[in-house]
Amino acid sequence: MALRFPSSWIDELYARADIVQLVNNYLPLKKKGHNYWGLCPFHNEKTPSFSVNQELNVYYCFGCKAGGNIAQFVMEMERLTYPEALEYIAKLVNMPLPQTMVPKEDEDLQSLKERIYQANEAAARYYHELLWTPEGAKVLEYLRKRKMDDNTIRKFGLGASGQEWDRLSQVLQQQGFSLEELQKAGLIAVKEKHHYDMFRDRVMFPIINVYGKVLGFGGRALGDAQPKYLNTADTPVFNKRYGVYAANLLRNQRNLKRVLLVEGYMDVIALVQQGLQGVVATLGTALTNEQARFLKRFAPEVWVAYDGDEAGQMAIERAVEIFRQESIPVKVLQFPEGMDPDDMINQHGVEAFSKLRPISDVSFTLRRLEKKLDISSQDGRTEYAKQAAKILAEVPDPVELDLYVKELSLRSGFSREVLLAQMQVAGSRILVTKKKESERKAVRSRPRVLTDEGNAAEQTLLSLLASGKLPVDFVKSGDFLTDTYQTIAARLLLGEQPVKIMTTIEDEATRSLVGKLFTQEVIGDPANAMAAAEECLNTLRKQRINAEIDILKKNMETQNAEQKVETLKEIMRLTVELSGIQRAQAKRKEV
Ligand code: UTP
Ligand code: MN
Repeated sequence: MALRFPSSWIDELYARADIVQLVNNYLPLKKKGHNYWGLCPFHNEKTPSFSVNQELNVYYCFGCKAGGNIAQFVMEMERLTYPEALEYIAKLVNMPLPQTMVPKEDEDLQSLKERIYQANEAAARYYHELLWTPEGAKVLEYLRKRKMDDNTIRKFGLGASGQEWDRLSQVLQQQGFSLEELQKAGLIAVKEKHHYDMFRDRVMFPIINVYGKVLGFGGRALGDAQPKYLNTADTPVFNKRYGVYAANLLRNQRNLKRVLLVEGYMDVIALVQQGLQGVVATLGTALTNEQARFLKRFAPEVWVAYDGDEAGQMAIERAVEIFRQESIPVKVLQFPEGMDPDDMINQHGVEAFSKLRPISDVSFTLRRLEKKLDISSQDGRTEYAKQAAKILAEVPDPVELDLYVKELSLRSGFSREVLLAQMQVAGSRILVTKKKESERKAVRSRPRVLTDEGNAAEQTLLSLLASGKLPVDFVKSGDFLTDTYQTIAARLLLGEQPVKIMTTIEDEATRSLVGKLFTQEVIGDPANAMAAAEECLNTLRKQRINAEIDILKKNMETQNAEQKVETLKEIMRLTVELSGIQRAQAKRKEV
């Protein structure tokens, strides 16, 4: 039976452990303001942006946005699971392990997940072992044909699924897994009381996360059987939006210059076998924002190296757009038509591959544009110049911009001056005033996590609440607009420690943001904190009232005359309230 640490023991552990002392063992920290600062261990940097808050027991990197509590820091640095990290910290602070562990049965989902991980691992082991038996000979031969050596096969835990329809389910049932568990893991399918193995007669690729857990599988058909690749359907532990293939290897590669993002399992394996580092693939789906944010943690930029066919090029366009949305620097590595990275490295060797220089996302977009429009005609060239100017209007670096403009001038036949004027029409960042530039930056760097708007008032208020500088009952959880903030506020108000709250935030982006809010410098003395909180509360009240008014207006569209009068009265009442708040805010600013 799965067991977990009693929460009182964990509380005690967190109270005893000092995150500053612990982090100091890995990197020197210096106190500045109320935080400690050092060079981030999770990304490459020259000036410290890694902050540690001793009181709250949390860390946050303003550069790569990694954040968490003391346990999560240990998990990352020592590559441990959560319980292992707790044990590790307990040893450091000389705290005995708890006498009794609490059964986990009440947490049904938690134990189901654990069972699925176990089943997946058992399946991975079975597939891998089968590979070296006569039953797996066909698959092994296929892998050899694809030039994979034994080391690589072991490194990726590749395997073979047999031809029989229920071989895996028999083996795993003997190991104590129920059919229900196997079905929930996506390893078997059940149809009218009959069950059969999901993967048969395929090359098996286990998909392993950063903590070494097997999330699911990809299976490649040997011949032309369809589908070519079959992937585990989403399960309680596996969501294709979040996972990437070979994340487990990424974790061991610190100080990467770039992450190389390819399309397929085979591409990853071929490149890694030739010694390349930091290579990953998405799992048979288009890149998602979640995956992009995940990759950002491992290197300062991402190179997209998709297949050289039209489908690949279109997928690059979408991927580039997603990286831009996330403000992640992205470049593109291109291959000759019809080649993928696997073909490229196998046919031309690792040296030729490493010599390929990536092009910037802007160059890529311009080249695509040029391909789509017929620039042999005057109309085509005009359209090309116009659309390209729109793209260049977004380039922030003047030197880079100048290069692009020169090239565009050559290719389109328009002079530099005309192109610059066209960019101004498109609203260039460079050519507009300084003020606009800083506004734009503010918009871009706003976290896009909890709400699309990333409400500043809510965030400041949460920081203030976490700082403990506000009087009791000054803020209620209902004052926040977003569910996530409301939940976190409610937990803070119940007296839960920030360090504890961080543990349970599963979504990495949200955890990162909350970590930032918890470590943020807040106004020093309580009087100022109260004034700042009051300001936030008023802003949020105004937003709530405005939203209410919008709804009422919308309702009015379908109301009869009598109802409309009532609604109008309500709107007027709200408007009066709104201006009351505004007056109070203006007055405060005067003093
Ligand atoms: P590709 O068809 O380019 O595969 O699909 P590949 O990696 O080059 O495979 P080989 O060289 O033919 O063996 C790229 C990726 O798209 C997903 C898989 O993740 C694959 O690796 N895919 C493809 C599927 O999920 N299902 C499919 O049927 C095909
Ligand atoms: Mn291929």
